[in-house]
Amino acid sequence: MQVRLQKLLADAGVASRRASEKLISEGRVLVNGQPVTQLGTKVDPETDRVEVGGRVVRPVEERVCVIVNKPRGYVSTVKDPEGRRTVMELIGHMGVRLYPVGRLDMDTEGLLLLTNDGELTNALLHPRHEVPKTYVAEVDGLPTPETLSRLRRGIRLEDGPTSPAEVKVLKSTERGATLSITIHEGRNRQVRRMLEAVGHPVSFLKRVRFGPLDLHGLKLGQHRFLNMAEVARLRAAAGGARAPRAMRRRSPDAGTAAPRASAQTSPPRSNQAGLTRSGSKRVTRRGK
Ligand code: URA
Repeated sequence: MQVRLQKLLADAGVASRRASEKLISEGRVLVNGQPVTQLGTKVDPETDRVEVGGRVVRPVEERVCVIVNKPRGYVSTVKDPEGRRTVMELIGHMGVRLYPVGRLDMDTEGLLLLTNDGELTNALLHPRHEVPKTYVAEVDGLPTPETLSRLRRGIRLEDGPTSPAEVKVLKSTERGATLSITIHEGRNRQVRRMLEAVGHPVSFLKRVRFGPLDLHGLKLGQHRFLNMAEVARLRAAAGGARAPRAMRRRSPDAGTAAPRASAQTSPPRSNQAGLTRSGSKRVTRRGK
């Protein structure tokens, strides 16, 4: 899609719109190797090579973060070689490539994030940041106080000991119990394996919290964009992961063309106040 050259420069954080126009008029912007001085010239960021001061200007991809309440029966991958339903089918086409932040196994429902912000994903999943994840688990049998203490201390699994979990009994009947369990790691089927290892197999599992986020207002199968405040809280939980920047280094033209703070720190339009790009509230439901 073609955009005006000064808009491309401004959106990429090279300079403000006005300072970009000045750079263009001064012949300091090259398009496919040739200086372009005509204001309003349109370029295609996908195919045209735009340079300022010897550096290639790349368009900034809009960063999007979506929260989904995943039903059972969906795999948390972009594509499934076995042809099973994926969480991508729940969110539909967003115009950007999103990836799940970690996984929920196929039989587990609940809170899953998807984003195209790789830096945020890595920070959220990095074991050092210990982002807490809370699950509600229905288990067979009633765990004794000693069993709960074992889970709280951490137990040995085949891939190593788990770190301490926070565990509460929410409800108990003669046949089983409903537990709240918070872990700070993200190993494969970890909650199921932990509870199985202490003799209480899981019959139902739902993630209800991921760091500062919960499923409030989101029914099973629904999704919505995160708003600015939610993304900021996620970043803080992930050890203060940096917001994406249009250009990490200063522009070569600092002075006439100082990088704009807004392009470096503003979340994407779609991340604002839970609105879509068209400004309408987007909460949709698919699946069950
Ligand atoms: N633990 C599990 O057992 N399953 C999940 O999907 C996540 C954590």
